[in-house]
Amino acid sequence: MILVTGATGTIGRDVVRRLVLRGDKVRALTRDPGAAIFPAGVDVVRGDYDDPASLDAAMAGVEAAFLVGVLEPGKPGGDAALVAAARAAGVRRVVKLSAIGTGDTTLGIFATWHMAGEQAVRDSTLAWTILRPSQFASNTLAWADAVRAGRPVPVRTGTGRQGTIDPRDIAEVAVRTLTSDDHAGRTYTLTGPAALSEPDLAFELASALQRPVALQELSSESVREVLRAQGRSEEFIDGALGGTEFIRDGGNVALTDDVRQVLGREPGAYARWVRDHLDAFIAD
Ligand SMILES: NC(=O)c1ccc[n+]([C@@H]2O[C@H](COP(=O)([O-])OP(=O)(O)OC[C@H]3O[C@@H](n4cnc5c(N)ncnc54)[C@H](OP(=O)(O)O)[C@@H]3O)[C@@H](O)[C@H]2O)c1
Repeated sequence: MILVTGATGTIGRDVVRRLVLRGDKVRALTRDPGAAIFPAGVDVVRGDYDDPASLDAAMAGVEAAFLVGVLEPGKPGGDAALVAAARAAGVRRVVKLSAIGTGDTTLGIFATWHMAGEQAVRDSTLAWTILRPSQFASNTLAWADAVRAGRPVPVRTGTGRQGTIDPRDIAEVAVRTLTSDDHAGRTYTLTGPAALSEPDLAFELASALQRPVALQELSSESVREVLRAQGRSEEFIDGALGGTEFIRDGGNVALTDDVRQVLGREPGAYARWVRDHLDAFIAD
């Protein structure tokens, strides 16, 4: 049995789907099983990182677990509780979804948010693997409403480029690492094949749509207001803005070979992700 936390999220949902296709036994954890839709045969359980008993129950009989912590400064993020439950239940292998730049002191507090979770995993005595992806291609789905309505898309990071990665590649790497002992003790930094700025991403979208996509530069103050409206704490906002500045200054431009190392093939391009998700950007 493989337990997938964050199973309703971008990566976890695809990890569940891929494990089911392989024929693995899968348990999906969510705070609200009634609202979630999973493939037939998935064992759906209620669990909350703030409710240790629910995690103990979810880990029972599990061989490997995919850990998707929640990023909120000042909160334990779920990883330590998940690791404790995994150890108590005799789970053999854990794979933690972290983020690129974790532990990089030049990045500021944003780079510290996954550190405690990574440490809990490393200290766990379980066979562990840590995945540190760059920004997900699917983040640009946040542009979909604006693109459909013909409005400019907001640009937060100027011409700063990042190794934007197709989330399906992250899920495939997660499945490989959850189902093999070959990746124990490894930390993989996962990027796409090219470093792209937000204007580059908008250009790829415009090429696929065969019409222009205009850009609107957002000031730090505007980003702060957007995040406040989403209910984010000031501490979270400060960290997020620090990360934005880091990217804007070219700090997250590095590309790695880690997807190819694990999957034996190159990571998918953003243009391919756009082609496969174009419907989201086209008005009915
Ligand atoms: N987006 C990016 O560009 C990017 C880049 C690098 C790293 N990351 C990392 O990716 C992670 C997020 O992954 P994602 O985007 O796949 O997730 P997501 O789509 O943001 O979904 C969050 C998941 O967390 C679960 N969750 C939230 N609070 C919970 C709680 N208290 N107890 C149990 N489950 C809880 C939710 O489940 P329910 O609501 O069903 O309970 C949901 O499945 C973060 O750690 C982030 O740092 C993201």
